[in-house]
Amino acid sequence: MSIGSATGAVRRSTTIPVHRVLPRFVKDPVNALAEVGRQAEGRVVRLDLGLFRPYLVTHPDHVQQVLKTNWTNYRREGMFWRPLRRMLGASILGEGTPWESSRKILQPLFTRRYVASLAEDMATTIDLRIRELDAFARSGRPVDAAEEMAGIVNQAVIKVLFGDRISREDGERLAPAYDAAATSINFRLLMPFMPYSVRVPGDRAFMKAVQTVDDVLFPVIRKARADSGDSLDVISALCRARGEDGAELADRQIRDDLVSVYGAASESTAMTLTWLWPLLDAHPEVAARLYDEIDRVVGAGPATPEHVPQLRYTRMVLQELLRLYPAGWLFPRMAMEPAEIGGVRVKAGSQVLISPYATHRLDEFWERPLEFDPERFASEGQERRHKYSYFPFGGGPHQCLGQHLFYVEAPLLVAAILSRFRPAVVTPGPFTPSPAASLRPKEKIELSIVPIRHGRGEAA
Ligand code: HEM
Repeated sequence: MSIGSATGAVRRSTTIPVHRVLPRFVKDPVNALAEVGRQAEGRVVRLDLGLFRPYLVTHPDHVQQVLKTNWTNYRREGMFWRPLRRMLGASILGEGTPWESSRKILQPLFTRRYVASLAEDMATTIDLRIRELDAFARSGRPVDAAEEMAGIVNQAVIKVLFGDRISREDGERLAPAYDAAATSINFRLLMPFMPYSVRVPGDRAFMKAVQTVDDVLFPVIRKARADSGDSLDVISALCRARGEDGAELADRQIRDDLVSVYGAASESTAMTLTWLWPLLDAHPEVAARLYDEIDRVVGAGPATPEHVPQLRYTRMVLQELLRLYPAGWLFPRMAMEPAEIGGVRVKAGSQVLISPYATHRLDEFWERPLEFDPERFASEGQERRHKYSYFPFGGGPHQCLGQHLFYVEAPLLVAAILSRFRPAVVTPGPFTPSPAASLRPKEKIELSIVPIRHGRGEAA
């Protein structure tokens, strides 16, 4: 393997010695990729992995060019997206006409105003689910952070998508199926050139997960269609929606969009919030300010949507969390026509890798980029920043639909937990990001759940 970077002026490759990155690529591919970006100082880098030779694009100007200015030339096609299509179908996470029509139908359901109308139910769901942590607080048994975050987020997202139309039992079958799909897809993502005629590790588990999701969703869709009423939940809205031709959406389209939105919404939020706990553990001064804000604003709870705008420091912590651990850490595109990015010629059919994880770590655009410091998001500094130096939610026409939902759901969840407990990390770090569809820690992060006594605001 060799890695070359090309400069705009001369369009020739310089080589970053492989021995500096190869051992790390095997052990910790996510940080190795970021390290390649850092060494290239924002220049376009070509990764030469034999059959697979993608371009790594990290400079904010270049990211903007790919995601926004010239977005029609860089499509979500090719070897990375193909494995996901087997789960997602033709949906909002695709391209072309199916994507366009899904985007038109879904966008109004995730505006700030629409999310506000769903927030009360979401807050109640989160609060009820967090009460279940009492049992762990009493017994002193630790919880698995990733599992717990996924359990809470799953219920909140299911409430938004399905209202009361799905049983708790069926809802709880979705998360493990997605989890199985997200982990079993690793081999395909790392070996994207492997043909589908060749069975690879993980394929069987992946297809079983697709079957479980279908078994849960199709009956729920058929029931919702029979009585879509005027409920606000997303499945009811999709059952009432009409396509360009004025006809109802097919069951398959509703399934594909629900699967895609569920996948985009739950795994990303849960994994983001999993990384919060080791960061707070390592930064007691940030944790203390966060506890203080939540104590002041929410007290003993429950946390409600009215609290969210007052949780300003909580939002800064979440913004910085998404800088260091953007769940959508890598999203590839395929160049449809020959193009030039930062002076480097890119042939049609090439894969272009966009990685907020790498861009968010560039010294050229961030002071002390590897440090966790929520203060960066105190409003002043933000205005001076290049728009594409920070893009945890992507950008351009494919920009994430779920930002407003995230910034209501995540503060509610963090405030609901911290108004009752002080979770403490009990497993030793460091925790390494693993290259799954969403950025997740390779090692288990266990938390002990310590209850707090309100009144004097002290840990019990
Ligand atoms: C921490 C939370 C989240 C992160 C980091 C995140 C990140 C992203 C990113 C990077 C993209 C762009 C992908 C691309 O350009 O190929 C994206 C797209 C998308 N996200 Fe999110 N997301 C999050 C939460 C959510 C939530 C809560 C929803 C729920 C609605 C959601 C729904 C979507 C959808 C539907 C798209 C595709 C939009 C399109 O292509 O038109 N996301 N997300």
